[in-house]
Amino acid sequence: MTPIGFSSRRAFLAAGAVSAASVWIPGPVHGYSASEVRAAADGERLQTGLSKWDLDTPALCVDLDKLEQNIAKAQTVLTRNQVAVRPHAKTHKCAAIARLQLAAGAIGICTAKVSEAEALFAQGIEPMCMTTGNPSASKIRRAMQLRKRNPHFIQAVDYAANARDLADAAKAAGIVADVVIDVAVGTRSGIPPGDDAITLAKLVDTLPSLKLRGLLSYDGGAQHVTGFAARKERALKGLEEHVRTYEAMKAAGLNTEIFSGGGTGTYSVQHLTPGFSDVQVGSYIFMDMQYLAIGSEDGNPVYKDFAPSLTVVATVLNNRFPGRLTTDAGAKALTLNVPRAGVIGEPGMDYNAGSDEFGVITFTEASKTYKIGDRLELIVPHCDPVVNLYDQIYGTRNDRVEVVWPITARGKSQ
Ligand SMILES: Cc1ncc(COP(=O)(O)O)c(C=O)c1O
Repeated sequence: MTPIGFSSRRAFLAAGAVSAASVWIPGPVHGYSASEVRAAADGERLQTGLSKWDLDTPALCVDLDKLEQNIAKAQTVLTRNQVAVRPHAKTHKCAAIARLQLAAGAIGICTAKVSEAEALFAQGIEPMCMTTGNPSASKIRRAMQLRKRNPHFIQAVDYAANARDLADAAKAAGIVADVVIDVAVGTRSGIPPGDDAITLAKLVDTLPSLKLRGLLSYDGGAQHVTGFAARKERALKGLEEHVRTYEAMKAAGLNTEIFSGGGTGTYSVQHLTPGFSDVQVGSYIFMDMQYLAIGSEDGNPVYKDFAPSLTVVATVLNNRFPGRLTTDAGAKALTLNVPRAGVIGEPGMDYNAGSDEFGVITFTEASKTYKIGDRLELIVPHCDPVVNLYDQIYGTRNDRVEVVWPITARGKSQ
């Protein structure tokens, strides 16, 4: 896949998608395991100055300077645009990162699954909006039990029968549960905008054990449109019917305090959607090869609003064959193979993560001769599913491990 505006993927990579000061590190490495690192930590914090290059691999790392910069950037831009930030925790699944987002001014987080919401709440995260409907009796009951313990929990709904079931479960739990209508953009989920959505909102409004809070309208398809102008047009046009729905709900006296959607690709234009209350940015904290390829507002084909903070450190296992290297990070470390992972500092390398346990690199040019045991650092194809593969993420500053954070809701996909 050659990103638009570039004659080759190599040119795209060289233009800044995978540039970095450092490529790997000296010396024989110890390869500290996750349990050794956790044992050396005081809570989540390390005082020892362990180098990230000395971690056992594959190791999921986040550059804390870049992470903090990304959180601050979204918060600053959206605050200036007078919309709130409600980051989607499906990206990081990590209570420590949710805390940073809330401390920076986010009004709450979003969650995709009830188990994710439960796990984050158990770690003290309270303001949350579950953006997916709950399709089973068990999930509905769990969501309402969670709402009972956490008054700051909001549940999405997109079917009338589901709203009635939620209302029954809320009544049984002795609560009045906050609900938003998930209004479809495209055909993934949600109820179509217009009369269908308004009728559902009216139904929710009449059910005594539910409290209508507004609507969600997330346009996943708009986020990765290549080129800023095309992305902006798609994001705004795609929500025109939703704006009419929002206005009709408002005119009918229904609560529309929440009109939420948008993501990393459209965060900076979403305030142009009339009535929009907040943006559900997710990937912005980490970035990935998919997002780097969508292009910046200034025409740069690399999307530079946010810095790629998330990496996987891998180890070279085989260097025997000319123009090839094998690493220990394949599909089980990186999930997708398209787009290809980016090798930081090595724009001449093509990284194939198509094999379960191995990454296969082919190259005509490399910055050095790689030995067995050498480390390489990768920008992942798509951040969310990669994070879900790891028990912990190492937070680094200047290549030193500063914190080791559990991925609180890792594997919580139900
Ligand atoms: C409902 C919803 N909101 C927000 C997001 C975050 O989007 P992004 O990672 O593009 O910022 C997602 C991602 O899939 C989503 O499904």
